Amino acid sequence: MGLKEVFSDYTVSIHYDRRLYRQDIAGSIAHARMLSKQGIISQSDADAIIAGLGDVQEEISSGEFAWKPELEDIHMNIERRLFELIGEPALRLHTARSRNDQVALDVRMYAKEAIEDILAALYDLRWNLVSLAERHPDAPMPGYTHVQRAQPVLAAHHLLAYYEMFSRDSERFRQAYERTDVMPLGSGALAGLPYRIDRQFVADELGFSRISVNSMDAVSDRDFLLDFLSASSICVMHLSRMAEELVLWSSDEFGFVRMPDEYTTGSSIMPQKRNPDFAEIARGKTGRVYGSLIGLLTVLKGLPLTYNRDMQEDKEGFFDTSDTILSTLRIFADLISGLELNVGRMRRTAGESYVLATDIADYLVERGAPFREAYRIVSRLSEYALEKGLGFEELSLEEYRSHSPLFDKDVYAVTVESSIAARDVPGGTSQSRVAKAIAAATSELEEQRGIR
Ligand code: ARG
Repeated sequence: MGLKEVFSDYTVSIHYDRRLYRQDIAGSIAHARMLSKQGIISQSDADAIIAGLGDVQEEISSGEFAWKPELEDIHMNIERRLFELIGEPALRLHTARSRNDQVALDVRMYAKEAIEDILAALYDLRWNLVSLAERHPDAPMPGYTHVQRAQPVLAAHHLLAYYEMFSRDSERFRQAYERTDVMPLGSGALAGLPYRIDRQFVADELGFSRISVNSMDAVSDRDFLLDFLSASSICVMHLSRMAEELVLWSSDEFGFVRMPDEYTTGSSIMPQKRNPDFAEIARGKTGRVYGSLIGLLTVLKGLPLTYNRDMQEDKEGFFDTSDTILSTLRIFADLISGLELNVGRMRRTAGESYVLATDIADYLVERGAPFREAYRIVSRLSEYALEKGLGFEELSLEEYRSHSPLFDKDVYAVTVESSIAARDVPGGTSQSRVAKAIAAATSELEEQRGIR
């Protein structure tokens, strides 16, 4: 390959922007309809263009289309092929249009579809989290801070924490959709167009809820992709946190869950292994998604108005992110539906390690001790118990009383279950609050069915 060829390859984007073919063709069809409706091109030219574009689409989806890198991008490849197929009328399609507003249209259309798919996958994941919680409405587990056992909680409460995260992610994607749902065609290269076009007609044809307000902004705005990439970054961060917990929980050390077989792999030399590869890869995918966000922020920073060719660099990170988020969400939705909780092990662990220490301090507070004082007493009590190798429930009343006269035999009523039941505040882990939270999540999902 000669040096010149290497250099000309530099501007080529067809190997990735060919993904936009359906959007590009749909946009061109709507544009041609508008041009003929407005008398800018003849009805017969529009008919020929629309039929020809149908054939081009056929060729592309069947894999017959001969891509030509020398034509650089998807727009030129399709237009040239249209000319080969229908001749002269093809030369009229680009009337009252520029590649600058055309590419903005295509990417917005693609992003809207991507967001719809992502919202559907998020919806399934949220359902499956709620169903898993519902199957284990009162299974206790230790809640953690600093990866240290802290206080007993319901496993369902822990799962619903992720429901909240993914519900906020859905909200963010819906907001990203709103800002993407703006039709830029008719902005021309940057200044608008000297033809009697009907922009609203094109927007209606293509299912956009509004048209862009400023032509210069419309051809140089990629905020909608930044919205998408930041929503994606936050979402993949949540997925990564969940992935990390699944990796921990499926280890022998925790033993809280058994991953569905399809989501683990064996080792080539250690036959006992069930490696949580899917969760690990999901955790690892975080880097490329954040990378795409930072990449595009950097591409756009310092670009003078309006369109600059730098903006062609918006696509690969965007496509990669939408693939990554969609596949990861789908995998997690399925993985969660097949996840088995080891509730026996969770319950046992919840009772170990003095996780009831706070509750015993609260017990003393109820009997009149100031909290700081109660805290000091229980901390000495747990040191004592630890030294003796005993759990709280194994200490005698005398041993309790030697630490504080406020202790009575009802201290034995402090259990994992009573600790959980006591946290009966809005947002708390008590059985009744969690049951209500499950019901609320279920009706929220019922309401959102189909809306997405
Ligand atoms: N491939 C270009 C892009 O993705 C299409 C727009 C080109 N416009 C131009 N004036 N060169 O941004």
